[in-house]
Amino acid sequence: MSYWREHLSIGNLKIPRFLGGPLDRLTDAPFRAVTRLFCTEALLYTEIRHVAAVVKMPRAKVAIDQATRPINFQMTASSTDYIDQACAIILAQGVDAIDLNIGCPASNVVNSGAGSSLMGDIKRLDSILKRFRTNVPCPFTVKMRAGFKEHNAETVAQLCQDCGVDALVVHPRLQKQKFKGLPEYGVIASVKKLVHIPVIVSGGINDFETAQKVYESTGVDGFLIGRAQLGAPWLLHQLQEQSVGHEYKPERAHVSRAIIEHMTLIESFYGKKGLAVARRHIGFYMKCREHAGLIRRRAQETTCWADIHEVIESMNQ
Ligand SMILES: Cc1cc2nc3c(=O)[nH]c(=O)nc-3n(C[C@H](O)[C@H](O)[C@H](O)COP(=O)(O)O)c2cc1C
Repeated sequence: MSYWREHLSIGNLKIPRFLGGPLDRLTDAPFRAVTRLFCTEALLYTEIRHVAAVVKMPRAKVAIDQATRPINFQMTASSTDYIDQACAIILAQGVDAIDLNIGCPASNVVNSGAGSSLMGDIKRLDSILKRFRTNVPCPFTVKMRAGFKEHNAETVAQLCQDCGVDALVVHPRLQKQKFKGLPEYGVIASVKKLVHIPVIVSGGINDFETAQKVYESTGVDGFLIGRAQLGAPWLLHQLQEQSVGHEYKPERAHVSRAIIEHMTLIESFYGKKGLAVARRHIGFYMKCREHAGLIRRRAQETTCWADIHEVIESMNQ
């Protein structure tokens, strides 16, 4: 069977090669629900949560909508504290995988000793990985980058495999590069050569042609889609279809219904606080559309949900 027709296996999970990546405060529960209107099978990641926050947060805030599975719940940690309780809370709800983030470059995360700073402290990382593995009976994945201050993706990937991690997502940049600049996919090839667990690339995979080129140059097993899915919750399905030679373009009416549904979900999930979230997503939906500037300006002026629905109606005219 051809590479593109085969599913990706992570432990006992069999999923399409295109995964819905985490974008904090953007690929939230409403966004994941809208993605499911187009694509039922892809593995979707939740956004990063510190294990201490998972334990201390009201349970409703970490609730997983079971209809949006398969879900990979992402956490980060600064030490082995809270890992046991956080995993128990998440597993009790029903998730398909648990991910440890050791790639986040944000200064508040790094300063708390979590995210990408863990790649710079192998001893601490080793104990955290082992603690997660002991607590996670389902697939356990790690999302990392090329390195923290120094490039050490290969050392970290080997450690992850030795600690029983089931798959790696690798973002090919150092912490100081955050998410900017051209991704250097050489690191994906060198990690892929070293480990036998699946390696998934994250960074700059915005269309099928790029995915194909990266596969040919690295042998990578899967593609985590980040910013390109914003304003295009159908993209994972579209990429999957293109990879097996089918063209897919969502019908205009389907897109319009999805945008209305997205706004309704944001309203019921966040209440009034969701207006800012809704405005951001309207901006993303306007990518490559006519009158984008005008609609975005109107969205910025909204002060209530009725205004948001008026703006969406004008988008559909
Ligand atoms: C606004 C923003 C929020 C992000 N939040 C997360 C997160 O919560 N967890 C995570 O592992 N990565 C996070 N990332 C990284 C993305 O998952 C992805 O690795 C990165 O954007 C590169 O992929 P892309 O070029 O396809 O966007 C975030 C990136 C951005 C730009």
